[in-house]
Amino acid sequence: MASTIREVVLGVGGGIAAYKSADLLRRLQDLGYGVTVVPTPASLNFVGAATWEALSGRPVTTQVWEKVDQVRHVSLAKSADYFIIAPATADLIARLATGRADDLLTNLVLASTAPKLVVPAMHPNMWTNPATQSNVGILRSRGFIVLEPDTGRLTGNDSGAGRFPTTERILSEFCAISTRDGDLAGKNVLVTAGGTREAIDPVRFIGNHSSGKQGIAVAKAAHLRGAHVTLIAANIDGLNLPGIKTVNITDAESMLHAVENEFAECDILVMAAAVADAKPIKQMSEKIKKADYNSIDLEETIDILKAISAKKGKQIMVGFAAETRELLASATSKLEAKHLDLIYVNDVSDGAIFGQDQTQGTILLRNGEIIPVSRQSKDTLSDLLLDYALKQLG
Ligand code: CTP
Repeated sequence: MASTIREVVLGVGGGIAAYKSADLLRRLQDLGYGVTVVPTPASLNFVGAATWEALSGRPVTTQVWEKVDQVRHVSLAKSADYFIIAPATADLIARLATGRADDLLTNLVLASTAPKLVVPAMHPNMWTNPATQSNVGILRSRGFIVLEPDTGRLTGNDSGAGRFPTTERILSEFCAISTRDGDLAGKNVLVTAGGTREAIDPVRFIGNHSSGKQGIAVAKAAHLRGAHVTLIAANIDGLNLPGIKTVNITDAESMLHAVENEFAECDILVMAAAVADAKPIKQMSEKIKKADYNSIDLEETIDILKAISAKKGKQIMVGFAAETRELLASATSKLEAKHLDLIYVNDVSDGAIFGQDQTQGTILLRNGEIIPVSRQSKDTLSDLLLDYALKQLG
């Protein structure tokens, strides 16, 4: 199974933009990366080690002389999948270009073969200085990816090329690097998440307890493994997943349309969303008054998996079943009825699983194989499902 946690060393140079890397760190964590911050000693004048330790939840050292027994400059270099050096000052770029190893960060850079993204930020005169440009050229010739800084107002009154790029821009450049070598590189993965809401009137709806955590975990896992991911999200607040195309919808019908729009291009469809089974026959445009609230006439929503399976070609279709009894029998009949390649079934009696970070259940494959899944994180389950889907894709 592919490892869920991919490790990033975030090197922080001694520039005022150091504080902006705190946001970068958070967004990397949101995407599922483990991040170790390695500041240069000078950068601690701007942001202290305590801030980085609190945000990353990991110890922070700047020198090879600290925690010598752990041989950090080698162990950290080996465990890092990627380096992001942000902000990179003129001095730090010069030290990297000459192969210096005078603090932990520069030691790590020398000791690691992982891809390295350098994000410069400095005064425009320092950036355009031939010495800096020559050092940048050396780094690029050695395979470092050095971003061009943004142009605009700087810390003083000056403006020009030298601004620290936005977090979005850094992450989109990083995603281009991080996704190129995964086992899902080049594959399109379509994921649905959350719970649909079927409107009764402008105020009320029929909905369910789905938090969207499982679908988001699948989307992130597929993204980390290099896939182009589209996430169709039903009623999930505050989604911010750089590199993942997110389509927000509310009800079963809009989810069907969104899935139909993307299905032809996808290789793997993972229907993690909890689609409401029924909707009011008539949706009232005015709020229903309490006195008139007697009963609601319902009709079935369209079964998205069944509808889309009529268009199935190469796609591997993964479904979920949340049950409270006869788990395997229900899952088997859904596997058949919805033309799925695999289904994950879990027991949601007494509200279990919904909204939690952990899950436990069983995977059923089309060939009859049954794989019990012991209690583990929704991230780990996501990788497992993608492993089986990829195997079937061939
Ligand atoms: N599903 C769907 N369209 C629906 C209902 C469900 O595509 N209208 C998908 C879900 O996303 C899930 C799978 O079908 O991947 C099983 O969902 P579930 O709610 O367990 O199945 P239902 O067919 O609704 O059966 P029941 O509620 O009777 O158990």
